[in-house]
Amino acid sequence: MLKNINPTELKAWKKLQKNFDNDKRTLKTRFFEDPDRFNKYHIKWDGLLFDFSKNHIGSETFSLFKELLNEANVREAIQLQQGGEKINVTENRAVLHTALRNMSGDPILMDGEDVMPGIRDSWAKLAAFSNEVRSGDWKGHTGKRITDVVNIGIGGSDLGPRMVINALRPFVSDAMDFHFVANVDGADLHEVLRKVDAETTLFIIASKTFTTQETMKNANSAKEWFLNHGGAESSVAKHFVAVSTNADGVAGFGIDTKNMFGFWDWVGGRYSVWSAIGLPVILAIGFQGFQEFLSGAHAMDKHVATADWDKNIPAQMAMLGIWYRNFHGAASHAILPYDQYMDRFAAYFQQGDMESNGKYVGRDGKKVNYATGPIIWGEPGTNGQHAFYQLIHQGTDLIPADFIASKKPQHSLTDHHPILLANFIAQTEALMTGKSRTEVEIEMRQAGISDATVDEIAPFRVFEGNRPTNSIVADELNPYHLGQLIAAYEHKIFIQGYIWNVFSYDQWGVELGKVLAKAVLGELTGSGVRHEHDSSTSALINYLK
Ligand code: F6P
Repeated sequence: MLKNINPTELKAWKKLQKNFDNDKRTLKTRFFEDPDRFNKYHIKWDGLLFDFSKNHIGSETFSLFKELLNEANVREAIQLQQGGEKINVTENRAVLHTALRNMSGDPILMDGEDVMPGIRDSWAKLAAFSNEVRSGDWKGHTGKRITDVVNIGIGGSDLGPRMVINALRPFVSDAMDFHFVANVDGADLHEVLRKVDAETTLFIIASKTFTTQETMKNANSAKEWFLNHGGAESSVAKHFVAVSTNADGVAGFGIDTKNMFGFWDWVGGRYSVWSAIGLPVILAIGFQGFQEFLSGAHAMDKHVATADWDKNIPAQMAMLGIWYRNFHGAASHAILPYDQYMDRFAAYFQQGDMESNGKYVGRDGKKVNYATGPIIWGEPGTNGQHAFYQLIHQGTDLIPADFIASKKPQHSLTDHHPILLANFIAQTEALMTGKSRTEVEIEMRQAGISDATVDEIAPFRVFEGNRPTNSIVADELNPYHLGQLIAAYEHKIFIQGYIWNVFSYDQWGVELGKVLAKAVLGELTGSGVRHEHDSSTSALINYLK
């Protein structure tokens, strides 16, 4: 069991509050006073650079981060999680996505039983199936090879494989196209079905529970489409496979459980890309590539569990996040990959972080009296620079941001890369240094602008700066480093949730909407009983009926 903590009662927390109150030096001043900041506040580890020197921290803050991590006994919490304890108390489950990438050969016990043999069996089944499909040996019902894979799933059963396939596009086989359908809005499925051929399409129905309304509706519509486009019930097995923990549900849908890839209730949906939910990734980059992806994550699991706190990437990410959320009052956190292939990375961690730590009830069942998970958002650079960065630079909110890039590009247009990296670096510098009134005035006068116009316009051109950023650089965006990066964010989320004293692995907050949607659906279609609603809800139902 994870112990109960009131973070604000921790001695280190109180000291951090004092440090915050007493040390308001700007980032620029900090760098001016200590030119060695980069050396002090960066971590280089296994092909990753984590530069956190452009943050509002000094040596005292940094040592208090460590003190807090020790006082809260985060080390023990990590061991409990990775050791198979049922830390997801409200669902009575362990949280073992780390076992799914345990490449060490060591056993991992859950309820006294080693989970690794089951995981290895699942790898063998996934490897055999993916090899058959990738080689073209798996044939559709008319004897043709599979050319299109359509993953039907939502949330964790969609965002993970979708994000990873995009991120690893240069490693993806050209023999097949990969499509994702998540939204119950028929437009999503419709647009994919327009592009594919029933004879050569493989549908993966991905749902941990196999009860999710959106996925079941899309799956049924896809099956209907298949049957209306030359498929027969007897050939469904050639074109539909399932990834789920619910064998009865899969069989009930009409998929042979031989074509089901299972996983376990101790894998949270938003942490399931490492399980059979990663099947589209395996089909796309091959099982070997997937194992490299798992290996990167496994290396990060060991790193978070064993590295000293001051050299521990996820622990520093977590403490910096808490620092801004709880002491600086930052409501959101931006993730800004300077990598077009990572275009879904922020969206992926919107679920990963916000579904995990978006909670106001503490592990003691009481409402917390401090802020918990921030709003996570972001888009790739440089696009964001020409859209929302204005607010990060000159808006009234403090928005800490992670800038992510790779040293080496994964495409042949290599002369673009220095331009991309120049922007990546320049933005964090600009956010930190800003531009003073004096600088603006000098610049305007040098451009021959009159004194009157300088007086009038200069205030708008001043940047306060002092905006904090992390810079994360991978040697290259390959399966291994992507695995590391994702796992780093997962551990950050865990450490933060643990310190905020919330249960990070349940998601009760999404249930009410699902129940009400069922009730409203009955009313909209006339098939259900009428319920009492407020006047707005009733009017909307009547209007849309
Ligand atoms: O409603 C939220 C949620 O349960 C997520 O946690 C999950 O990733 C998603 O729905 C999909 O669930 P399933 O894989 O069971 O269809």
